[in-house]
Amino acid sequence: HGGNPSFTNLPSVLLLGPSGSGKTAILTLFERGAQPSSEKNSTSPAPTHTSQAPGTVELAVSEDGSSSFRDDLDAAGATAKKFLLVDTPGHAKLRRHALSLLAPTASSESAQSKLRSVVFVVDAAALADGDALPTTAGYLYDALLSLQKRMGSGRGSKAPASIPVLIAANKLDLFTALPAALVKSNLEAELGRIRKTRSKGLLDSGVGTDDIAAEENDDWLGEYGSEKFTFKQLLEFDIEVDVIGGNTQGDGPGADKWWKWIAERI
Ligand code: GTP
Ligand code: MG
Repeated sequence: HGGNPSFTNLPSVLLLGPSGSGKTAILTLFERGAQPSSEKNSTSPAPTHTSQAPGTVELAVSEDGSSSFRDDLDAAGATAKKFLLVDTPGHAKLRRHALSLLAPTASSESAQSKLRSVVFVVDAAALADGDALPTTAGYLYDALLSLQKRMGSGRGSKAPASIPVLIAANKLDLFTALPAALVKSNLEAELGRIRKTRSKGLLDSGVGTDDIAAEENDDWLGEYGSEKFTFKQLLEFDIEVDVIGGNTQGDGPGADKWWKWIAERI
């Protein structure tokens, strides 16, 4: 998109998450939902393919935040709040750009568009069998730590606006998928393990945690020195984290709760 002038100054929502979790599927569903009904009646899910570059669509929600992604706001003649949904590639080698959008120093891109929230998409079915948990949580750790640092960067000046995070537990249409509550507790446990591993050098050095000023330990996520990690610990940094289940295809709770969460925060 880059220089598209119509994108300037709209609030944005950033889609993050590992490859194959369903970010592009969610973007496509929300984008199609707003199209005339003749086009949205097609039952086939939109084809997706691994994303190599971020893609952005412009969406709209009614002023009171209550409209569905299926509503055609233009046809209803409603006054709507427009926002950008920004897709990113999940592949490990292509994440750096996505993470840079969370940095406190606004890049030229985010300076044009005010980041309102982050939707981190996970594959709740893949999380059921082991391998995906550490890699998913590793990416989530990096994203949450970036946001934590962003909040800490405002010292002395105005605190940056807080960025809430929705963890979208996707693919709940699959019977192997973990329910949202388990996705949440499994991620918390894994983030706690990662935190321990990444700080191991410090702990092994024999320096007690009391001796290390919290602000010196840059890579510790959440409450400093705590044994267990919970998403609640991020409230101290003004970062709200919610985990909500859904799906973009098949039978299940669908995507309405995700849309509502996003719409209420635009
Ligand atoms: P990258 O672009 O590689 O980062 O992946 P992505 O997160 O954009 O994933 P994408 O949207 O391309 O979806 C990956 C695969 O999961 C596709 O085959 C989708 O059809 C499938 N998928 C997405 N959402 C769902 C869902 O709710 N249920 C099921 N069963 N499959 C889904
Ligand atoms: Mg994609």
